[in-house]
Amino acid sequence: MNTSPSPRKIVLSGMRPTGPLHLGNYVGALRNWVRLQDLYDCYYSIVTWHALSSEYANAKAIKGWSFEVAVDWLSFGLDPEKCVMFLQSEVKEHAELHLLLSMVTPLPWLERVPTFKEQLKELQEKELNTYGFLGYPLLQAADIVIYKADLVPVGEDQAAHLELTREIVRRFNRIFGPIFPEPQTLLTEVPRLAGTDGRKMSKSYGNAIYLKDSAETIRQKILPMVTDTRRVRRSDPGEPDDCPVFTLHKAFVPKDKQDEIAAGCRTAGIGCRDCKAVVLDHLFRLLEPVWERRRRFEENPGKIWEILEAGNGRARARAREVMAEVREALGF
Ligand code: TRP
Ligand code: SF4
Repeated sequence: MNTSPSPRKIVLSGMRPTGPLHLGNYVGALRNWVRLQDLYDCYYSIVTWHALSSEYANAKAIKGWSFEVAVDWLSFGLDPEKCVMFLQSEVKEHAELHLLLSMVTPLPWLERVPTFKEQLKELQEKELNTYGFLGYPLLQAADIVIYKADLVPVGEDQAAHLELTREIVRRFNRIFGPIFPEPQTLLTEVPRLAGTDGRKMSKSYGNAIYLKDSAETIRQKILPMVTDTRRVRRSDPGEPDDCPVFTLHKAFVPKDKQDEIAAGCRTAGIGCRDCKAVVLDHLFRLLEPVWERRRRFEENPGKIWEILEAGNGRARARAREVMAEVREALGF
């Protein structure tokens, strides 16, 4: 059996449902995914099992988080007519392929993945020294190759996982015959967004601006944000490149306006309040239609599950075709 050749390249990416998405997730991934759905055959997965690998103690929350992620995706413009959005754990073939890949994956390949040791140390309270957590990047490899994906849009932090995926593909193809293409990383240039305390925006720092925050909440988070410390008085010039607020300008304000503001900051021509008002204005322009769509989806939660069900079915169909090929190659 053969999978029908697709005229368009196949894209796969995933997001872990561990809570609501924030602006960092938007500029780091979602914004790009929305563009890609017009160019490629895109599969976007809510990777429930990946969430489970670190959140097994909160397993019951993962369904609700998955729902929230789907609402965030849809209201920000992922379109189920243009892409396949689905729940990883509803396509059981991912687990089967993960198992098969595990047979040919040398343990040291997994042990040397940099994120493994880092996370073990960072999240000590979670007891992540588990088989499932060690296999995290292998499950990710299964997610990707089960669709024979050509392109995987991810940030720099995922580069090692993609490298491992390619190594496993080469090994698998050598042993069982050429089945999987080597997926390419589609590196998303991630402008580093600062959170409200000036550190990198992250859910775990409690400094994030969420996609579901209201205008009022966003205002309350941005107005008190620290700025370049040189601007003690309104008349002190500042340096936008040293200012956490300006990371938001870089992500959300058009370039010509950015330049104007940067010049104003360096000459003390504008104050920080005016500067923050500009970024709020652009954020709200982006978010208003999003809030409107979100309202409509939230009024009709059944619709979200329906969209996911349909996506699960489309993903399953492709995953099954590829798995049939894999089983045949194994002689099963
Ligand atoms: N590991 C990815 C992350 O933390 C999530 C992920 C799981 C993923 N499976 C994937 C990303 C497959 C790309 C492709 O962001
Ligand atoms: Fe930051 Fe803007 Fe203030 Fe400059 S004017 S320090 S960029 S908030």
